[in-house]
Amino acid sequence: MRETILVLDFGSQYTQLIARRIRELGVYSEIRPFSEPLKRIREAQPKAIILSGGPSCVWDEAAPSIDLGIFDLGIPILGICYGMQLIAHLLGGRVERSTRREFGPAEIETTDTSDFLSGIPRKTRVWMSHGDRVLELPNGFVSIATSENSPIAAMKDTQGRIFGTQFHPEVVHSELGKEVLSNFIFKIAMCKGSWTAKSFAESVIEEIRVNVGNSEVLCALSGGVDSAVTALIIQHAVWNRLHCIFVDTGLLRLGEANQVFETFKDLGLDLIHVSAGRRFLDKLRGVEDPESKRKIIGEEFIRVFEDEASKIEGAEFLAQGTLYPDVIESVSLKGPSAKIKTHHNVGGLPERMNLKLIEPLKELFKDEVRAVGGELGLPKEVLDRHPFPGPGLAIRIIGEVTEEKLERLRAADAIFIDEIKKAGIYKDIWQAFCVLLPIKTVGVMGDERTYENVVALRAVTSLDGMTANWAHIPYDILEKISARIINEVKGINRVVYDVSTKPPSTIEWE
Ligand code: XMP
Repeated sequence: MRETILVLDFGSQYTQLIARRIRELGVYSEIRPFSEPLKRIREAQPKAIILSGGPSCVWDEAAPSIDLGIFDLGIPILGICYGMQLIAHLLGGRVERSTRREFGPAEIETTDTSDFLSGIPRKTRVWMSHGDRVLELPNGFVSIATSENSPIAAMKDTQGRIFGTQFHPEVVHSELGKEVLSNFIFKIAMCKGSWTAKSFAESVIEEIRVNVGNSEVLCALSGGVDSAVTALIIQHAVWNRLHCIFVDTGLLRLGEANQVFETFKDLGLDLIHVSAGRRFLDKLRGVEDPESKRKIIGEEFIRVFEDEASKIEGAEFLAQGTLYPDVIESVSLKGPSAKIKTHHNVGGLPERMNLKLIEPLKELFKDEVRAVGGELGLPKEVLDRHPFPGPGLAIRIIGEVTEEKLERLRAADAIFIDEIKKAGIYKDIWQAFCVLLPIKTVGVMGDERTYENVVALRAVTSLDGMTANWAHIPYDILEKISARIINEVKGINRVVYDVSTKPPSTIEWE
């Protein structure tokens, strides 16, 4: 059984960071909703449980809480911020409601460094982000650190099993946060720390092998790193009982369809290539609204996939390359959150086709997926490929999608990518692409007036696509890209560079 630390999510913006830090320390960590039933927690056999922070107040009527049985599991528990307040509240301490937030750096003074805070100096800087605070400890607890604003900045029970921190050790601004988490998982939870991308791949392959038995598995291969790594994992688990379907939507980049087909054939995958460009373009005719485009493409994708999948007998499972950020961007664990964009993968398919879903990468971030892909021998050009959205170029053409616009965008995009590869900066950028705008502007070429379209260049740096900064590409490279696009792509006479961060903008324009 692999060592697992469960993180119960109360909605903090830092929850994902907790899991990530722990995996960086070499222990597998998984996020579950705060309401996870005790039975499922038991089944996961965690070495410890961490209760995340969150925006709620323990006094709220609908305050998210946990099954008290968690305290009887006998395993170490760490509450961070709201998690600590909840522990204090549930076990008989007193949490003070506050309207004032403490947000930013603060200094704590440690008063007990015997276990959890071992190796932490008397004074250290930490990151705070809270309103409420613990004023009175529950019976059997002692304070182990104080700060000016939080008289009880950290606590523990006298048995040394349950801990709480008002500060956020998972945030890099907490100087020794990683040491604190390391103490918790190695000195308190007694983990060994043998989790690596390789061990993850091995254990997930084994789990899938057992789970799938003799059934057949389908996988929608897009050519991107997520679906590719998913397919390889399944292939290692069930070999020729995996059937990959590659739907060419006609909305891919220049030469991409062929490249995907060749690469995956080389990897020995059973790959069915469906050229469905015409079907997608017909459906998109006259459609301008971004959400309508996304919906149409999603639905058509399902139809094409279903047509092909129905030819494969005995299929019981559908493998999907969902990553952690996809999970939180489309369905908030906390409940209904504002839908920003309908992310298209193969949503809706499993229910319609009565297939069981396999999502081996659901807990991982992109860089972790790349590490797993590397272990499984995925070629570098696939591993390092920038993410590409399911609806493809259709959401990079503002307004109606036509064959002519697709061609123009493909040509411009190929130049952009070619130049940043030549400049050696492709890998430093999370995503780079062109957006074809529906506006025309006046230009001059030779002695002639032109009246043509604008292309926007979008390049961002990011860790997981959830927040992003525009990439600071050197001017001379931008200059070259712009000159080449205007000279080489018919119908474009102006290139602009997008300097917006996410949030408040998004990475894609639609
Ligand atoms: P946004 O535009 O929401 O994009 O900032 C965040 C990341 O998600 C990608 N993206 C998608 N990926 N299906 C996908 O598989 C989609 O429908 C989709 N829409 C956006 C986007 O390219 C970026 O990496």
